[in-house]
Amino acid sequence: MPEHTPVLELSHVSVAYRTAAGPVQAVNDVSLVVMPNEIVGLVGESGSGKSTMAYAIMRLLRGNAYVSGGSIRVLGRDVYAMGRQELRKFRWRHMSMVFQSAMSALNPVITVETQLVDTLRSHLPNMSVSEAKDRAANLLELVRIDPVNLKSYPHQLSGGMRQRVVIAIAIALEPELVIMDEPTTALDVVVQRSILDRLQEIQADKRFSVLFISHDFSLVSELSSRMAIMYAGRIVEEAPASSLSSIEGHHPYTEGLLRAIPKLTADEITIKGIKGHPPDLVDLPVGCAFHPRCPRAYEPCRLFRPEILATESGRVECHLFAEKEVL
Ligand SMILES: Nc1ncnc2c1ncn2[C@@H]1O[C@H](COP(=O)(O)OP(=O)(O)OP(=O)(O)O)[C@@H](O)[C@H]1O
Ligand SMILES: [Mg+2]
Repeated sequence: MPEHTPVLELSHVSVAYRTAAGPVQAVNDVSLVVMPNEIVGLVGESGSGKSTMAYAIMRLLRGNAYVSGGSIRVLGRDVYAMGRQELRKFRWRHMSMVFQSAMSALNPVITVETQLVDTLRSHLPNMSVSEAKDRAANLLELVRIDPVNLKSYPHQLSGGMRQRVVIAIAIALEPELVIMDEPTTALDVVVQRSILDRLQEIQADKRFSVLFISHDFSLVSELSSRMAIMYAGRIVEEAPASSLSSIEGHHPYTEGLLRAIPKLTADEITIKGIKGHPPDLVDLPVGCAFHPRCPRAYEPCRLFRPEILATESGRVECHLFAEKEVL
């Protein structure tokens, strides 16, 4: 695959849930590109549509959820144009996902070894069982788990070890794209740090791309080169992670998230959250969806949805940047 072909290309993607109250527009006209060997962060408050986006990419939306517009390409291939058989071969081999709840990703009645061996052999039928077992041991070592744990069942492992196993399964077939949905949120800070450090090392070595989803802004900005900020189903800003070290010059929602990062001062922790709540996705506010909470909202924000505007290093969807070029 040429270096300039995006690993992931979301183009005007919308996803809705059918409900009795009407369609819940969980993802609303999202465009985003992830290039080879790149870690892109996707952040936003709870309910902003991050997991829905991830499931849509994997074509794992269930029940009342459906893609209502746009296209999703992975390695240049339209995920929704694939036949069932094609999709089965493609998923996990070329794109994989670490789910928000690690426990539900593992089968409780199957050993770690068997789960890894099954993953490998279902996609690599020519691989012998003994080869697959060797590879399973290597994968555990890669995520820093002693291979003696191969014979363990998920409940015999600590939360951190389970999450390492889930990561090992996600990277087992060396997919070009790995989506990580809050991969360490349930873990304590020390375990989280050690897993993420290892993940960064593996990524640098294997050179796959990651869409890293979290509501933890500072964590994502440390890992990613670029960040997409999601609010009420839309990406309201995209910027290099480096530009987010300064609070000013961003979408007011991004600024709010930056101000909400706990600051350790001499003797206290200050947290300044964003006032109010995300909007009802069945009945979005007219104009900019953020305007009821925005400290800098003015007339146009209540009337018109802002266009997507180019900034020096990314894009922003906000009337305050009106002098910028429309993308
Ligand atoms: N099955 C469903 N039926 C109707 N609405 C749903 C369903 N699942 C999710 N939603 C709604 O879709 C929106 C987006 O949910 P999603 O889980 O994608 O958000 P998220 O950004 O991943 O949140 P979190 O940070 O809590 O994981 C939410 O408002 C949620 O209430
Ligand atoms: Mg989620």
